[in-house]
Amino acid sequence: MCGIVAYFGRKHAQPILIEGLKRLEYRGYDSAGVALLEKGAFNITKTPGRISALEENLPEYESDSTVGIGHTRWATHGQPNQINAHPHVDYTGKIALVHNGIIENYATLKKWLIKEGCAFQSETDTEVVANLIGYFYDKNQDRNGRFAPKDCNRFEWAVQQALSEIYGTYGMAILCVDCPDMMIGVKKGSPLILGVGKNEYIIASDASAIVQHTTQAIYLSDGEMAIIDSDGFYTKTITNKEVQKELKEIEISLDQIELEGFDHYMQKEIAEQPVSLETCLNGRVDVKNGRIILGGVSQYLRELTRTKRIILTACGTAWHAGLVGEFLFEQLARIPAEVEYASEFRYRNPILEEGTVVIAISQSGETADTLAAIEQARDRGALVLGVVNVVGSSIARLTDAGVYLRVGPEIGVASTKAFTAQVAVLSMLAIELGRRRHLSTDAVQSLLRELMEIPAKIKRILAQTDYIRQIAQANKDHENWLFLGRGFNYPVALEGALKLKEISYIHAEGLPAAEMKHGPIALITDRMPAVFVATRCSQYEKIIGNIEEVRARGGKTIVVATEGDEHIKPYADHLITVPETCDQLQPLLTVVPLQILAYHAAVLRGHDVDKPRNLAKSVTVE
Ligand code: AGP
Ligand code: GLU
Repeated sequence: MCGIVAYFGRKHAQPILIEGLKRLEYRGYDSAGVALLEKGAFNITKTPGRISALEENLPEYESDSTVGIGHTRWATHGQPNQINAHPHVDYTGKIALVHNGIIENYATLKKWLIKEGCAFQSETDTEVVANLIGYFYDKNQDRNGRFAPKDCNRFEWAVQQALSEIYGTYGMAILCVDCPDMMIGVKKGSPLILGVGKNEYIIASDASAIVQHTTQAIYLSDGEMAIIDSDGFYTKTITNKEVQKELKEIEISLDQIELEGFDHYMQKEIAEQPVSLETCLNGRVDVKNGRIILGGVSQYLRELTRTKRIILTACGTAWHAGLVGEFLFEQLARIPAEVEYASEFRYRNPILEEGTVVIAISQSGETADTLAAIEQARDRGALVLGVVNVVGSSIARLTDAGVYLRVGPEIGVASTKAFTAQVAVLSMLAIELGRRRHLSTDAVQSLLRELMEIPAKIKRILAQTDYIRQIAQANKDHENWLFLGRGFNYPVALEGALKLKEISYIHAEGLPAAEMKHGPIALITDRMPAVFVATRCSQYEKIIGNIEEVRARGGKTIVVATEGDEHIKPYADHLITVPETCDQLQPLLTVVPLQILAYHAAVLRGHDVDKPRNLAKSVTVE
């Protein structure tokens, strides 16, 4: 994870780097640092903790340096302390860099470099890269004793030599004191964007740190580097072949990444769902003709319709959306489907028969395990489609085709509006495949009508926020919770539990409600709230039975039920209602009160909801 930002231009770099780091802080926040290139040396400030701590530690005078690099860390190698914080400088003091990713062969390289006399300060894998570049730069010779070609830039050459020794993932910005008019950005497996402004350049892990300065950007691909100097910039591969990159327009706007009066991004993103879903559905649902128009995958729809099996792959919340997708494809399109944890799929030597289609789901489009699962599927010849939010992200580029969520940047670490949009996109796909295979026009139209009503129905749920906050208040001190649902509400139970645990640090378990009696029921006491997602659906009577089982053992219940359901009232210590919809679309509604419940439980427990401990927004490491 981690966020990197680097500035090269005519303005003071320091405030731009700090601003950029604040935008990227959601990516990692255990320590931070900046290095400014000034008067032939690096001026470095690093600190454990948040960007606010870094700001407090900056020198009082504002440096007038116009070139610098910054980093906000999510540690993979070495504790989050000051020494391990980035930027890292090589043993000669000439090279400084910030890194997002993991250097897999760092231990071997470190041993070799130490033998060669290079001193190390930190426990990080990153410092190996700094020392490796420094070593080649210093010696001006490659591993085989060959001198750097006379006509090349030695700094650039040293970077390429070092990268040829490295296995792993990186997005890096690199400076050299001898070349104050140069900055290098390199990418493999971690995101890296080069913002191109008027006489200024910003390298960053994502567009949110760039958009304030320019909306023109180059999206580097894996194995590419960008070299910025006083004449402009050029791009090549890390093996020194020239590549031409297209300038693209950054599609996010500044207001999308501001809090706009909300206390937290998570709160804003929950509240945004009626609008974000509308944007997701807009122009894609034709109720009158009973059609779905998904431009991104249109050329593959025939293949998809004939597919023998769909494998959905994802991590975390996106996996929960994938589980809803599995049920949707089976029920609506009658296509065998299964959802796989990307982290398991990638190592399992999976069997992909001819005609299998893989759908990768990811908000960030950068999740390392999901990327690896896609590569695995592609190697086996499967068609791979993406359901992704971040435009131009690695997953969006690696997949054969896909559908964007169109919900704007999701900044809160806990995923909310991306989940509902992922489910909406999978619903659209499943309905369209169902239409092409066997569903009647009436059935399709009725599903589409229901789908289009979802945004307004979510508004009705949001109106209960204060009431749900009271439920959170009454239960926030319980350290163990159960979340239970059946059918389409089973993935919602999993998602409700994940939301609660990741931001409130309450232990929560999500289960198919009927599984409870096979073990977890032993946990039931009056100190363990059981949240039942028990809307009026095909398994309504069954889940009522499960609620009875909990109450019979003195358990306390929080029940999410359908508006106007009087029958369920006596079963609930706390009752939350959601508007009625068809079985298949229930998750789009029932997840919302669970998001609100988790948000308030966490706030009431005094947690930083947008930056939960130990976590980061996108998991770009294994
Ligand atoms: C959910 O709230 C998470 N923080 C996490 O589980 C997330 O959904 C997962 O890491 C996948 O991320 P992606 O959608 O960006 O691939
Ligand atoms: N591996 C580096 C470190 O631990 C970077 C971490 C990351 O990008 O996740 O400092």
